[in-house]
Amino acid sequence: MEKMLTGIRSTGTPHLGNILGVIIPSVSIANKNTKHSSFIFIADLHSMVQIENVKTISNNTYQIAAAWLAFGLNIDNCLFYRQSDVSLVTELAWYFNCFYPYQRLVLSHAFKNEMKKIDKGKISVGLFTYPILMAADILLYNAQIIPVGKDQLQHIEITRSIANFFNKKIGEKLFALPNAFLQKKNMFVIGTDGEKMSKSKKNCINIFSSDEVLKKQIMSIRTDSKSLEEKKNPETDYIMSLYSLIAPLEKIEIMKKKYLRGGYGYYEAKIALYEHIIHKFSSEREKFFYYLKNKSLLDHILALGAKKAKNIAYKRLNCIRKHLKFNSII
Ligand code: ADP
Ligand code: TRP
Repeated sequence: MEKMLTGIRSTGTPHLGNILGVIIPSVSIANKNTKHSSFIFIADLHSMVQIENVKTISNNTYQIAAAWLAFGLNIDNCLFYRQSDVSLVTELAWYFNCFYPYQRLVLSHAFKNEMKKIDKGKISVGLFTYPILMAADILLYNAQIIPVGKDQLQHIEITRSIANFFNKKIGEKLFALPNAFLQKKNMFVIGTDGEKMSKSKKNCINIFSSDEVLKKQIMSIRTDSKSLEEKKNPETDYIMSLYSLIAPLEKIEIMKKKYLRGGYGYYEAKIALYEHIIHKFSSEREKFFYYLKNKSLLDHILALGAKKAKNIAYKRLNCIRKHLKFNSII
């Protein structure tokens, strides 16, 4: 059976984009997969390129863990861990750093785009080698199904390229080539401003915030300035676009008709979206807060997952070390 692996950075509370794009599809695969064929981790090491304060990163890991569990991840079936607890991955990343040509990484769009956004003085070597660590996360376990959002496609391409490069170098198929697993509908969930919803922007719909904050976020969805009476375009409106991702078909059709008929305001549409989210995710919200109140339980669950992942990682790393003519580690 092909292994599935994915990670979410601990840079904040998971938002609707993370949930629809990655958490829901991954839980569905992981819960059906055979034991030890699914790896789900909290990418706290990757978070360090964005957040300097390690304590914040560490606190955020609880939010990510609670979200996965709230959406029903069966931890008996899957390896659920903090990336930093299985630090063997950084050794593999080092080997990749040494073998992979610098020039290929310089050409990565992901890096070039980041370069444009960040003030030059703040660009770390870690940001540059970010895709290398991600490749190590995946290739350490030979995972082949990688649920991610659209923004991660190039990172998966780089991972494939690293796997190919390394396999050729040692003349053996040591690494399997991974594939991104994405669903067209949910691979790029827009935020309240119509751009990609992202923890680093103030455009999130955070289903795990209080009713009041959630309502505020939904009320801030950008619209055009059409009056209540005017007919509206359901194809270009952001409220409609978000509603279509989570509501049942009949309800979407009803809302579309109201848009086209006129006499239906954006305020009402926002209220409908808010009420639908509250209703649809009520059980997940309850569970999320339960887990957040039980941090020692989360620590215990993640430590157990790390122990299991380490066992597999040691074996794989020793096999890789053997090819490099290094001694085995215990
Ligand atoms: P963020 O970009 O909000 O900081 P992460 O980088 O931790 O989130 O992303 C975790 C996963 O969620 C990645 O696979 C990413 O592609 C996916 N993801 C992030 N934002 C969205 C979105 N708006 N729509 C769909 N998937 C997303
Ligand atoms: N880079 C991913 C993101 O920004 C997080 C991540 C790290 C990841 N390692 C991974 C995702 C391995 C999938 C597989 O969201």
